[in-house]
Amino acid sequence: MTTQFPENFLWGGAVAANQLEGGYNADGKGFSIQDVTPKGGIGQGGHDADPLITQDPTEDNMKLIGIDFYNRYKEDVKLFAEMGFKVFRTSIAWSRIFPKGDEAEPNEAGLQFYDDLFDECRKYGIEPLVTISHYETPLHLSREYDGWVNRKLVDFYVNYATTVFKRYKDKVKYWLTFNEINSILEAPFMSGGISTPKKELSKQDLYQAIHHELVASAKTVKIGHEINPDFQIGCMVLSMPIYPLTPNPDDVIQAMESDHKNMAFADIHVRGAYPGYMKRYLRENNITIKFEEGDEEALKHTVDFVSFSYYMSICETADPEQKKRGEGNLLGGVPNPHLQASEWGWQIDPKGLRYVLNYFWDRYQKPLFIVENGLGAVDELIEGANGEKTVEDDYRINYLNDHLVQVGEAIEDGVEVMGYTTWGCIDLVSASTAQLKKRYGFIYVDRHDDGSGTLERYKKKSFNWYKEVIATNGKSL
Ligand code: BG6
Repeated sequence: MTTQFPENFLWGGAVAANQLEGGYNADGKGFSIQDVTPKGGIGQGGHDADPLITQDPTEDNMKLIGIDFYNRYKEDVKLFAEMGFKVFRTSIAWSRIFPKGDEAEPNEAGLQFYDDLFDECRKYGIEPLVTISHYETPLHLSREYDGWVNRKLVDFYVNYATTVFKRYKDKVKYWLTFNEINSILEAPFMSGGISTPKKELSKQDLYQAIHHELVASAKTVKIGHEINPDFQIGCMVLSMPIYPLTPNPDDVIQAMESDHKNMAFADIHVRGAYPGYMKRYLRENNITIKFEEGDEEALKHTVDFVSFSYYMSICETADPEQKKRGEGNLLGGVPNPHLQASEWGWQIDPKGLRYVLNYFWDRYQKPLFIVENGLGAVDELIEGANGEKTVEDDYRINYLNDHLVQVGEAIEDGVEVMGYTTWGCIDLVSASTAQLKKRYGFIYVDRHDDGSGTLERYKKKSFNWYKEVIATNGKSL
């Protein structure tokens, strides 16, 4: 490939605390909403919370043990370093720091764990990239406050963010405020800790919760920059190009309106105010957002960069018959007749990544960071040629290679890309389906959905492939 990736390009991998750490009640940690998610997950689209939040964690929840990263992180970080990672994206489990979420003082043992983890990364020259909230709202905040519907969450979150900013100000430079903040539209429980069942949640409450998250995010950006002016603080959105199914202008407008619902989140983070199309949507749906004094000012504290996940594109149509075909799909959308899907029905579209990078760049002229991209697949552990166990995951290599080629194309187009972190660089528990069978990693972890397995780690074929990509700064693609 001829593209030159920038010299300081941040190659790496991404995970989230609740999907790999385990140690769900270790060292004073409180329960998060993920600890009560039963086997099978909350489903693609992340539906109802109602049966979940009243019970305590049950043993069949794969996330309680995860891949035991809490105890094995040194071994894992060493493997990341062997691949040449420049950056490692993880999240801080909010309920390790504030077990219930509404305390004034943090849990020292929880803070110490991340000190140790970040030190371990830095030992190898790996820069941590930290998501402050990744689908792991403390359970108490969900049960007692209905999550982000309640204004009080703003202060709890800001207190938590301030605590970790101060504690890690010399260890962490790159921060993300909320993982896939726009996913609250589809998954109000997983994304927003909202315990009201989705079918009973009014648009008024949903958009008020969104407002609270946006205000909390902007306040956090302001405070972060005061604590350390060198901090780079980004928003994180789920990106998904929405193509019109046909050239019919009705389909084009339908696609635009769906896109607006998603883009509002990044627009507010970058431009510091509600866009006109969103005000229209709120008006026409009789939603009145309660702005508290200072909110408008707070929103003006905009992000340093825009980060996003990218897994798929979807199509939109105004035709109700065609629309039905999309029902049951992750995040809606009608299947694209030109694309193949993964085993979990996610439509694979490498060129969509070039498209999305250009789209964000043209819209914002802010540095972009691809902080999630990858293929969830069933892997088979076999005996390799050298006698060591491995996985011949050419399908994963092809997927990642195709996407990275398109990142190169976008760089050729003039887009400023800061870095790329593959999702689930080590096998972990799926967010939507809570399975370990759906693997993303370069490193295989011997743990299975029936709870069996040694937790041993094995390098897949893609491990060496990625190592080469990083070593050549993308020239081997
Ligand atoms: C993103 C989330 O939506 O997709 C991750 O930020 C998640 O937490 C990833 O793991 C892949 O989804 P899944 O459901 O396959 O784990």
